[in-house]
Amino acid sequence: MEEENQLRLYSIVPLMQMAEKSSLDDSPSAVGAYNVNFYAQAEGILKGLSGTDAPGIIQASKGACKFQGGPDVIQYIVLEAMKNLGHEHPVAVHLDHGDETSAIECVDKGFSSVMIDASHLPDEENIAATNAIVEYAHPRGVSVEGEYGLLAGVEEDTEHAKSVYADPRFVPEFLERSGADALAIAYGTSHGPNKGRTDSLDTTIVRDSYQGLLKASMTLDKFLVGHGSSTVPAELVAGINALGGTLEGTSGVPGYKIKEAIEYGIRKVNIDTDLRLKITLAMRQFLADNPGVEKSSEALGMIKGVFDGTIPALDKHKKPIEPGMLVDPRSYLDPVKKNMPELLREDYHKCEDDAFIEAMELVSQGVAEHVADLNRMFGSAGLAR
Ligand code: G3H
Ligand code: 13P
Ligand code: ZN
Repeated sequence: MEEENQLRLYSIVPLMQMAEKSSLDDSPSAVGAYNVNFYAQAEGILKGLSGTDAPGIIQASKGACKFQGGPDVIQYIVLEAMKNLGHEHPVAVHLDHGDETSAIECVDKGFSSVMIDASHLPDEENIAATNAIVEYAHPRGVSVEGEYGLLAGVEEDTEHAKSVYADPRFVPEFLERSGADALAIAYGTSHGPNKGRTDSLDTTIVRDSYQGLLKASMTLDKFLVGHGSSTVPAELVAGINALGGTLEGTSGVPGYKIKEAIEYGIRKVNIDTDLRLKITLAMRQFLADNPGVEKSSEALGMIKGVFDGTIPALDKHKKPIEPGMLVDPRSYLDPVKKNMPELLREDYHKCEDDAFIEAMELVSQGVAEHVADLNRMFGSAGLAR
């Protein structure tokens, strides 16, 4: 019974309520929402959350679900990691940038929250598409995030050259009519490690949207979400480049801007790229420190082959990537996933490959450190105490 309680997954609503109550109490706060693709990453996120006594959202994109063979596998990975770590703080498992089909599948397969991103549609159609998922998810106890406005850069399968900012005056109406619990509002952030100049950021959109919700007494039920919020630390990129990377023109959202957005009303902050960078640095470091590791570890031999360029690397759209440009772990973990999928799904400590265990421990530790740092920045540290 105790174990069942421990393994309960939460909808994102009570988690964001914790952040909102803290914010109303003069301690601005948002819950970190961290993307996951494989076991060691889930473990690292959970360690970062427990190390800072923070609630957290672990989210998987359609691409992540596909990589692991379905949302049920993602849910299994997170629950296994929670069980193995004895994780005690509230966690939600959330679909990131879903569409109608994937959102319904994730509700059916054990996610506690889903995003329906219909932001490419005209507003009325976006509201209707979001509401259709709310009607399916809410009776099943699953929360729903929508998106209003377009982020520049790559969003799942589509690429937008320019942001289309959310109109703050329409945000309360969007939330009311769609029935969504949370809304990603475009205020100039973008996905990925090349975010460009910070003058695209307009946090007054967050401020004015939140003020509208306050006026309508909605802030304990409806929440604002900031996507594309990775900080892309220069030292991480420099570390990767010192070990063979060729990343150029990278930049993230400065910490002071994220804090400002949280002060103005963001209650969920999405982070994927920073964890990808942490994982890539850990892998490059491990391979540099352990020449010849392929002799003892078949899995690491495959990963090394991708970094060396002897195994072609492909992105999630199956387009070739230069080894120096590798950032997305799925690109270099793909041969392992194809040949030994359990190594990326189960607790890697139980495998018989000591070098692989050591590499994954480094990955997990890197992720945990960064999640803890970000939770402190977001004001979610201590919220679950
Ligand atoms: O949409 C942005 C997230 O970073 C998810 O990325 O679709 O490559 O998994 P992904
Ligand atoms: P980053 O690429 O800035 O990490 O954004 C992640 C995100 O918004 C996931 O939905
Ligand atoms: Zn996003």
